[in-house]
Amino acid sequence: MQNDLTVVILAAGMGTRMKSALPKVLHEAGGMPIVEHVVQSAGEKAPFEKVVVVTGHGAAQVEEHLAQYPVRFVRQTEQNGTGHALMVAGEQVPGKEGLLVVLYGDCPLLSAETIGRLLEQHAASGTAATVITAVLDDPTGYGRMILDKGGNCLAIVEQKAATPEQLAIREINSGIYCFDAALLWRHLAEITPNAASGEIYLTDMVEILRGHGHRVKTLRVPDAAEILGINTRVELAQADRYLRDRKAKQLMLDGVTIERPETVTIDKFVEIGPDTVVEAFVHLRGRTRIGRDCAIGTGSVLQNAVIGDDVWIHPYCIIVDSVLESRAQVGPFARLRMQATVGENAQVGNFVELKKTHLGAGAKAMHLAYLGDSQIGEKVNIGAGTITCNYDGVNKHATVIGAGAFVGSNSTLVAPVEIGAGAYVGAGSVITDGVPPETLALGRARQVVKTDWQRRPKKT
Ligand code: UD1
Ligand code: CA
Repeated sequence: MQNDLTVVILAAGMGTRMKSALPKVLHEAGGMPIVEHVVQSAGEKAPFEKVVVVTGHGAAQVEEHLAQYPVRFVRQTEQNGTGHALMVAGEQVPGKEGLLVVLYGDCPLLSAETIGRLLEQHAASGTAATVITAVLDDPTGYGRMILDKGGNCLAIVEQKAATPEQLAIREINSGIYCFDAALLWRHLAEITPNAASGEIYLTDMVEILRGHGHRVKTLRVPDAAEILGINTRVELAQADRYLRDRKAKQLMLDGVTIERPETVTIDKFVEIGPDTVVEAFVHLRGRTRIGRDCAIGTGSVLQNAVIGDDVWIHPYCIIVDSVLESRAQVGPFARLRMQATVGENAQVGNFVELKKTHLGAGAKAMHLAYLGDSQIGEKVNIGAGTITCNYDGVNKHATVIGAGAFVGSNSTLVAPVEIGAGAYVGAGSVITDGVPPETLALGRARQVVKTDWQRRPKKT
């Protein structure tokens, strides 16, 4: 964290090529809007109070989405170029001293480490500005870096203005810079509108600073992907893949086994303990936290799930906003949602749905059940096909089942209802009244067998 640092994030552009009603920077990659990745990285280096986001197209939506961060916003109502955006940002910049880093809201892959390296190199070289560059096989569209033999940056030439010789230069401007803030603010107004486009190009600052006798250096990133700017949904998908790969690699290096890592989708803030095995095609979203020695079966989707240690999630489970305590087992094909909690050693089998339900330690619901708004005690056995009727068409009602109770298969528990500890419910019962502890409840018609019955002859 660097207190003399201000970060300006340029995010006013239109994003025409996304062909979307949603502002470009709110499209998601790696489980988060692309501009949020940039805000996060900025926040690792500077206090959020010193991060200024320049908005324009879709400003209200972008600002609303980022409202959770104490950053400053400034609106650039007309997009007159990158230099103009910075001039507008100047109105909100708290101090005009120290360092100023410029980032793009549509470059989500730039890591906080690389911003850190930019700051280090800038400090070490003592120049007026440092520009992040990359060498591309195809530099088309980017500004080209004009360097002297000593590696000083003489100018940045935009594609449209470049001579054929300059077009052959493969080292490009990423658009990410670190400036000596005092020098930048002193000379920014000297940029004149570009003759061809009328826009104010921040890239012109290089020559302006040089004209005042200052030097500009470059920092070349080895991995050009880091400076990928998103313009189309094809690039959005590339960025997503890159962020997923980076996350999966980090987890693997931290001791998590991931089978076929190219198939899994793991969001940035997901945590997983060592020796957990994540099978192919798993999605781990949001703030999901998983302990050690777990198995997450193929096709499972976990969102904001909290999983203890040694938990076994069989294939194809959907677990949202729910908790599995250590040594629980669920699935295959189980659905847990809205604060479902499964206690230690409890088991949830196939085609079982839990909603706002606590299943006590060691309890079992192994087949085909819906358990909603229920408190289920320790070691309860829920038979196949059990349904809690928690909704009367107007309100939701609770079901309470005491420890050690046994609910026979295909029982219908009409809530509100309470089944006492150790009670027994006969299979096929419709339970509408409370069942006291240690009693047997049968709520179904007695079977009749007619011995004098005869099959009617078929009509001819
Ligand atoms: C810019 C650079 C180019 C560099 C490239 C890297 C200039 C003149 N050129 O070109 O050298 O190789 O980035 O991607 O700077 N923005 C605003 N307000 C504006 C204009 C732009 O907020 O008035 C924002 C955009 O939303 C975007 C970023 O600034 O996030 C870059 O703008 P863009 O128009 O894409 O610049 P390029 O032409 O790609
Ligand atoms: Ca661009």
